[in-house]
Amino acid sequence: MEFVTLNNGVKMPKLGLGVMQMTDPVEAENAIVAALEMGYPMIDTAAAYGNEDIVGRAIKRANVKREDIFVTSKLWVSDMSYEGAKRGLESSLDKLQLDYIDLYVLHQPIGDIYGAWRYLTEAYKEGKIRAIGVDNFTQAKLVEFIKFNEVKPAVNLIQANPYHQRHEDQAAMVARDVQMVAWQPFSAGDGNLFEQPLLKEIAVAHNKTVAQVILRWLLQRDVVTIPKSINPERMAQNLAVFDFELTAEDMEAIKSIDQGGGFALPDNADNFERILNMWEQMFG
Ligand SMILES: NC(=O)c1ccc[n+]([C@@H]2O[C@H](COP(=O)([O-])OP(=O)(O)OC[C@H]3O[C@@H](n4cnc5c(N)ncnc54)[C@H](OP(=O)(O)O)[C@@H]3O)[C@@H](O)[C@H]2O)c1
Repeated sequence: MEFVTLNNGVKMPKLGLGVMQMTDPVEAENAIVAALEMGYPMIDTAAAYGNEDIVGRAIKRANVKREDIFVTSKLWVSDMSYEGAKRGLESSLDKLQLDYIDLYVLHQPIGDIYGAWRYLTEAYKEGKIRAIGVDNFTQAKLVEFIKFNEVKPAVNLIQANPYHQRHEDQAAMVARDVQMVAWQPFSAGDGNLFEQPLLKEIAVAHNKTVAQVILRWLLQRDVVTIPKSINPERMAQNLAVFDFELTAEDMEAIKSIDQGGGFALPDNADNFERILNMWEQMFG
């Protein structure tokens, strides 16, 4: 496994398992145990995924040491305030059955993020969290947040994959010593990404799969990533990306399929309100 060093000195694995939509108690627990036992050093969950309890049971059951794994969870919008963050973190620790969480992030730049950050800063100083970070922050929001807080976010999670490569966003983070984490590296399978001709060609040349090429491409950009799979064979495939290297030409060629953009909260009032209402219905 390869690691990055966050701006507070904490080492974070460059590859982990994303567990969004893994909610069947038996199937998800078995999959997460399998992932941990095959060597996944990191699990990315969130209060909003409704499976922190499943992750907690899997960690208890798996034959791994707590100090050898890195657990990320996220504070949801309904808890986005000082008191809410206190409640949210306690709930995450309780469901995960952990004494500390490695990385805890504000899941969206929505609500009283300054109040929530103040509490997370206290919890970080008390050792309940080893690093604190943000999620889906635009460049401007990240700069504002760094300027008006005592503790700088260690990471910013954003959607990034070959269709939405986010090079400028990454440069803005690198310049400020904030680690980029790419969520949805496979675009959740949308846009026929696994059948993209250039990626297929590169995969054949390296005797690897398109999924492995995508992960390798992110790793070589020094981006941390968290592919999701519930299938042990695909999980193993996604972990087997440390024994080959893309060439400089491969890396350059992949830039040609960038469509720009990537998930961002809408500016339009009606669209923004629609998202807030949808999330409220889905996650509370
Ligand atoms: N912070 C945020 O706002 C945010 C938002 C979205 C997601 N995330 C995080 O990012 C993680 C990943 O995103 P995601 O789950 O939306 O999508 P993803 O990782 O881009 O794609 C997952 C899809 O790809 C399939 N897959 C996985 N490995 C494969 C392989 N080697 N070959 C072919 N298909 C493969 C999976 O199917 P199988 O499971 O059947 O293998 C699943 O359908 C989430 O689980 C979550 O932890 C964060």
